Amino acid sequence: MKDQDLSIGIDALAIAVPEGFVELADLAVARGVPPAKYVEGLGVRRMAVAKPHEDPVALAADASRRLFRTADVDPSSIGLVVVGTETAVDHSKPVAAYLHGLLGLPSRCRVYEAKHACFGGTAGLLTAMDWIASGSARGRSALVVCTDIARYALGSAGEPTQGAGAVALLVTSSPRLLALEPGVTGSYARDVADFWRPLYKKDAVVDGHLSVQCYLDALAGAYDAWEETSREVGQDPDDVVRRCYHVPYGKLARKAHRHLAALRGFADAEADASFDIEVAPSLRFPSEVGNVYTGSLYLALASLLDAEAEQLEGGRVGLFSYGSGCCAEYFAGRVQPGAGPFTEKLALGAPLAARKRLELPEYEAIRRGDVEADQRPAAATDDAGALERVAFLGVDSDRRVYRA
Ligand code: HMG
Repeated sequence: MKDQDLSIGIDALAIAVPEGFVELADLAVARGVPPAKYVEGLGVRRMAVAKPHEDPVALAADASRRLFRTADVDPSSIGLVVVGTETAVDHSKPVAAYLHGLLGLPSRCRVYEAKHACFGGTAGLLTAMDWIASGSARGRSALVVCTDIARYALGSAGEPTQGAGAVALLVTSSPRLLALEPGVTGSYARDVADFWRPLYKKDAVVDGHLSVQCYLDALAGAYDAWEETSREVGQDPDDVVRRCYHVPYGKLARKAHRHLAALRGFADAEADASFDIEVAPSLRFPSEVGNVYTGSLYLALASLLDAEAEQLEGGRVGLFSYGSGCCAEYFAGRVQPGAGPFTEKLALGAPLAARKRLELPEYEAIRRGDVEADQRPAAATDDAGALERVAFLGVDSDRRVYRA
């Protein structure tokens, strides 16, 4: 039996971020750049910096555990785990397999990793929706986790747009936060060389200005497809009260909002006038963390719900996901009755409060030691952060070892 009439969507979410961050103003001074270029020009205040023990698996596990705890989720109810990441820890074994073990998930579970730059998490979310709509879920829930460490070369133009973190999403047929609209999405794809990471490199390679243009072109293509599909099924594409974008840095969300407004026939001034209401509440968490690649759109959604879930109940939110290379999707969801008090219980922003500012030399030492730290012997690790958090300890006979 297909469950097409069910309301399917995001039941709960939680974030995890590294313990340390760099103030962008400090980075600007160190790089001989006016701080206003990073803070106002790019719209980023802080970037999260992951230490070696805070790898994508550890971040994903922390976000998932937090989700289970704050949303009262029984791990035995999970039947599908998709991890979206573009900074995986192994060419073969997926982050999802480590997660399955660390979270104690049932053996009757499909687990895998999805990669398409920043789009991998959205690919997982759309698959989870289809899995439920097809009837395959049989009452179970899907866990979709976006986890990444965004790295560019030290001193490069991309450096101030780094970040790190994970967002865990629970997808169910009775969503407490956001009911999505299966089948009503707009896709766009094109083979472009805007951003990539060759197998032999830890830092991403990017043609920065081209990547911005590709992002905006993809927004136009995906929105156009979504608008057409919306009309075909009798929905009003203008029935949207807030818009969340993929946020590699805050300023691009502003450019995206202007671009979308122009496509919808509005002038820049009108786009700027609606920006503070429609977009700004979704940018607070991203401005504290930086780019989290696959999780970026969902960090923006978390920020929006944290700020306004109660007043948005019943309202529709537009969502734009972009992955370089490229693939993009526009879709929407309706904030559910009761989302306000439930979001308060989730305390989405709490992980941001418990962090430590890193001095520039500390940050640079972490970055320079990245490759070596990934291969350190697990037995010799003496810095693995707070005991209550999952930590990557190192390797033992090429096997990654974690403190659960
Ligand atoms: P840049 O070339 O150093 O910066 O790098 P710029 O010269 O373009 O300046 C940036 C902005 O700061 C400009 O504003 C300047 O005017 C302003 P805009 O004209 O764009 O509105 N500015 C100042 N403002 C105030 N005071 C000042 C000042 N000076 C200049 N003194 C770039 C910028 C984004 C290219 C670089 O950071 C980069 O390459 N970042 C990485 C790539 C990226 O994030 N691309 C985004 C689109 S692709 C994407 O989203 C996918 C991605 O997430 C990966 C994936 O899918 O996996 C990246």
